[in-house]
Amino acid sequence: MTNRIDEAQAIVVFGAQWGDEGKGKIVDRLATEMDVVVRASGGANAGHTIMVDGAKHVFHLVPSGILHEHVTCIIGNGCVVHLPSLMDELSTLRKKGIDPRGRFFISDRAHLLFEHHILADKMQEEKRGNKIGTTCRGIGPAYEDKVSRRGIRAGMLVGNFEAFAARLQENITRRGIRHGFTIDAASELTLYRDLVEEFTDIIVDTTEILHTAYHSGKKIMIEGAQGALLDIEFGTYPYVTSSNTTTAGACSGTGLPPKFIDYSLGVIKAYTTRVGEGPFPSELHDEDGEKLRERGHEFGATTGRPRRCGWFDAVVARHTAKITGADGWNLTKLDILTGFETIKIVTDYILDGERMANFPADTSLLDNIETEFVELPGWQEDLSKCRNFDDLPENAQRYCREIENLTKVPIHSIGVGSDRDDLIMM
Ligand code: GDP
Ligand code: IMO
Ligand code: MG
Repeated sequence: MTNRIDEAQAIVVFGAQWGDEGKGKIVDRLATEMDVVVRASGGANAGHTIMVDGAKHVFHLVPSGILHEHVTCIIGNGCVVHLPSLMDELSTLRKKGIDPRGRFFISDRAHLLFEHHILADKMQEEKRGNKIGTTCRGIGPAYEDKVSRRGIRAGMLVGNFEAFAARLQENITRRGIRHGFTIDAASELTLYRDLVEEFTDIIVDTTEILHTAYHSGKKIMIEGAQGALLDIEFGTYPYVTSSNTTTAGACSGTGLPPKFIDYSLGVIKAYTTRVGEGPFPSELHDEDGEKLRERGHEFGATTGRPRRCGWFDAVVARHTAKITGADGWNLTKLDILTGFETIKIVTDYILDGERMANFPADTSLLDNIETEFVELPGWQEDLSKCRNFDDLPENAQRYCREIENLTKVPIHSIGVGSDRDDLIMM
C-alpha cells in the first residue's frame, strides 16, 4: 500500500460527483505510465472525452487508454456490453488509424446488452411517473436480467451459440410480453451469429489477464464510469444508474481484489453538473448556472442533453471521499471558473435548522434543505497555460486549498483545459 500514485501498481480512477467529471482525460493522460486499463462497470451510458491536439475522441465502451499503443484495454466483467455499439466504436477507431486487435479484450463474464433492453429502457422512461432521465442505452434492464439470473454473458456467445440462441429467444419473448413490443429475434440471431468469429479471440477470461499482469509487475488502472452519486448503493437513489460506480465496484467489476489497489483517484469538477433527474442541492437556476453551462460546454457526451450546473458541493465530495477512500482528487475544469466575481462552495446542508451530519439515505430530504456556502473571491486570468500550482492566480490557489480543507483529501492534479496536456500535476 502506498499513498503515492507514482509508486502505485494498481489504481482506481472514479467519478466523484454525478458523472462527466472528466475521467476520460485523466485516464488517457495517466495511461502513458500504465500497462493495462480496464473498465469495471456500466456500459454505453458512459461518454468519456479525450482531446489530443484539438482532435476529439469520445468513448462509450472502449477504455480510455486505447490511444496508447502499448496499453492493453479490457472491458471487465462488471460491464454490460452492446456489441453492435462496440463495433461502431472500434470501426471509428480503425478509421483514425488505431487498430486495437491483440490488445483489446472483453471479459467472458461481462453481460451482453441487446435491443430488447434498449427498447424496454425507453418504454419504462416514457411511462414512469417520476422520470429518472436515463441515457436510454438499456442499462437498467440489462442489469435487471443479470441480477435475476437470466442474463447472457459474453462467454456464452463464443462458447455455446446454441444455448445463447435459446436464451436470447426466451428473453426477447418474455420482454416483449411484459412491455408489449415485438422484436425480430431471427434477425438478432443472424447478427450475433456473424459476430461470433469477430469476437472469439476478444471475449476471454480477463481476470486471468489482469492477475497475470499484476503478478508480473505490470501497472493497472481501473477506469470508473458514471460517478459516486450515481452508485446504486450510495448515490441519490432511485435517481442513480444500476451498477456500483465506486472503488468497491472497481474490484467486483474486474476480479482484482481490494488489497491490490494502492491508490484511488477521485475525479471531481471544480463546480458540479448532473444530467437526468434527481436531487442536486447546489444547482443554480440563474445566470451563473447558465454561464457555467455555456463556458464549460456542459452538454452530454452520450445524449447531447444540457447538463444541470451548480457550485462545488463539499457535502457531496465528503460523502464520496468516505465511501471510496479517495487518496487524491483530480480537480477538473478549474479554467471554466475564470471570470466570476465571486465563487461559492456549498459547505453544509441544513434541515429544520440542524446541520445534517451525513449525506442522507432518504434523498427526498434534500428537497427541503437549505445550503450553507462559503463565498470566495474569483479571478479573471486565463488558466490554460498554467502548468504549476504556483502559476495559478492567488485566488485560484486559494479556491483549491479551500476544497482540500473542506474535503480533507489532497489535490493530485488540476485540469486547466480540455487537451491532454492542460494539466497541473501537484
Ligand atoms: P467523463 O465522462 O468523466 O469522461 O467526462 P466527459 O467527457 O463526459 O465530460 C468532460 C468534458 O470536459 C469533456 O468535454 C472534456 O473534454 C472536458 N474537460 C475535461 N477536463 C477539462 C478541463 O480541465 N478543462 C476544460 N475546459 N475541459 C475539460
Ligand atoms: P460518464 O461515465 C453522467 C445518469 C443518467 C441518469 C442516470 C441513470 O460519462 O460519467 P442510466 O442510463 O445509467 O440508467 O441512467 O445516470 N448517467 C450519467 N450521467 N455521466 C455518465 O457517465 C452517466 N451514466 C449514466 O443521466 O440520470
Ligand atoms: Mg461523460
